[in-house]
Amino acid sequence: MLAAVLAFAFWLWVLVLVVTARSDNMVDIVPVSSYPSHISLLPSIQQCNLTNLPENYFLKYYLYHALTWPQLSFVAVVRSSKPTAYPKVVGYVLAKMEEDPADGVQHGHITSLSVMRTHRRLGIAEKLMRNSQRAMAEVFNADYVSLHVRVSNAAALHLYRDTLGFLVEKTESKYYADGEDAFAMKMDLRNMQIKDVPDSDEKDEGDAVGSAGSKEETTTNGEKLVKVRVGKQRGVADLVERNEAGSSY
Ligand code: ACO
Repeated sequence: MLAAVLAFAFWLWVLVLVVTARSDNMVDIVPVSSYPSHISLLPSIQQCNLTNLPENYFLKYYLYHALTWPQLSFVAVVRSSKPTAYPKVVGYVLAKMEEDPADGVQHGHITSLSVMRTHRRLGIAEKLMRNSQRAMAEVFNADYVSLHVRVSNAAALHLYRDTLGFLVEKTESKYYADGEDAFAMKMDLRNMQIKDVPDSDEKDEGDAVGSAGSKEETTTNGEKLVKVRVGKQRGVADLVERNEAGSSY
């Protein structure tokens, strides 16, 4: 009997060890903005960049991305069984909207992408890229996303061209500080944009709910209530407050 109990306890312990080890190795892809204090992750993202790429940036450049376009940069962190543990960053994509596009077309740009050697070939870069591209199209209505990559970077070229579907737009001679050429690549995102829902004259599918909300109303103190549209389908510009004279602020 005792032997059976001991054997059961042993296998239970082994199971706990295996489950804990597995969850310690799982990687979550999260927006940089999703941590309570995402600013605290930026040095780890910078460290990942310094480890993997010769193109490096001041910390304030990461901060600028995180504060200006918090929806576009994503980070791959190893899930820890200890909730208090500092997240271990194993990959990131640093992305932005082009602020003054030469072609006048609203588009996103991948500033930098890298994954630590220990975590490569697991699909992490692809997930980081797809998340960022979706956010560019859905949040900022980007028509396309652009990037530069070294002509010799076979791994990144495979990811961009073969896995994701980027096209080479042109070759930029001596783009990098060491004299190497870059491919300027882009990918159309228009099929990912959220199309505006038409102002509907469509019939309400539900039962009548009385007069509330069906037309412009006036409150008891004489203020005019104006209907506004909100929701995922609306762009930021549609959500600004407007006074009745039409100016927005
Ligand atoms: N050789 C050939 N193909 C590769 C390689 C490689 N070394 N590495 C990945 N791939 C392929 C994968 O097989 C996969 O292809 P599939 O869709 O046909 O299966 C595809 O690329 C995506 O693979 P992931 O696992 O998502 O890529 P990974 O997480 O390993 O990251 C990355 C790829 C980012 C290029 C990584 O190798 C890295 O960090 N390299 C150093 C930094 C770097 O070069 N960054 C890009 C610079 S350009 C810029 O920042 C805009």
